[in-house]
Amino acid sequence: MIALEVKGLRKTFGGVVALDGIDLAVGLDDIVGIVGPNGSGKTTLFNVVTGALKPSAGSVRWLGEEIGGMAAYQIARKGLVRTFQQAMSFPALTVRENALIAHEHGARSGTRAVVPDALLRFVGLDGREDEIAGSMPFGNLRRLGLALALAARPRLLLLDEPAAGLNDSETEQLAGIIRRLPGLGVGVCLIDHDMNLMTSICQRLIVLDFGAKIAEGRPEDVLNDRKVMEVYLGAPT
Ligand SMILES: Nc1ncnc2c1ncn2[C@@H]1O[C@H](COP(=O)(O)OP(=O)(O)OP(=O)(O)O)[C@@H](O)[C@H]1O
Ligand SMILES: [Mg+2]
Repeated sequence: MIALEVKGLRKTFGGVVALDGIDLAVGLDDIVGIVGPNGSGKTTLFNVVTGALKPSAGSVRWLGEEIGGMAAYQIARKGLVRTFQQAMSFPALTVRENALIAHEHGARSGTRAVVPDALLRFVGLDGREDEIAGSMPFGNLRRLGLALALAARPRLLLLDEPAAGLNDSETEQLAGIIRRLPGLGVGVCLIDHDMNLMTSICQRLIVLDFGAKIAEGRPEDVLNDRKVMEVYLGAPT
């Protein structure tokens, strides 16, 4: 079932066309990857879909309802949740305190909450509940960021460069966590520049270039697409 359906989405900043008529459909059992060069519109797409920015034109439908232009907090409450590149936690509080706050906040929106301990176990932070968030290594902060996003009880989680700054083993652990999300009823749409990660976890890849979708399909097909190779490798036409 299609949960998120974007049609003809356009976003301009003055003369800059950041999104130039994007169509996109994501289901709740999907892991969809968004790739493309710097400045191709990936983060802007997440910003518009999650209400941080208003669309200039086009439609964003979530579970059949038009949400384009709604406030970010309203969209998050409907289960469409994003993470930011900066880990969003309270650095002076412990891991457990952070999880409790996120849990309390998420509990307002109605459905049954996952208890914080289970979330921390899920992301591999069990045993670290009493550590001060801000003193943990970067990889653990990222996991905490993921646990906090999950505490909002998303049905679709949008991850913006979750592997940026992680080493290979941290990236592999993150991949293991992300792969399990659809089985728990959480669809995933993620942006990342790490092509090994993207091809190993995404069922489908969408390639943006200058705000337009230039390819979509299975990772192995997309990466062999001529237009995509031109964008990434500057291959001759
Ligand atoms: N708030 C903004 N105001 C003005 N221009 C913006 C704003 N946000 C993005 N842009 C412009 O829109 C275009 C797309 O930017 P965006 O951040 O979406 O790219 P991206 O694909 O996420 O790039 P990266 O891989 O570097 O994160 C760029 O030209 C950028 O300068
Ligand atoms: Mg970006």
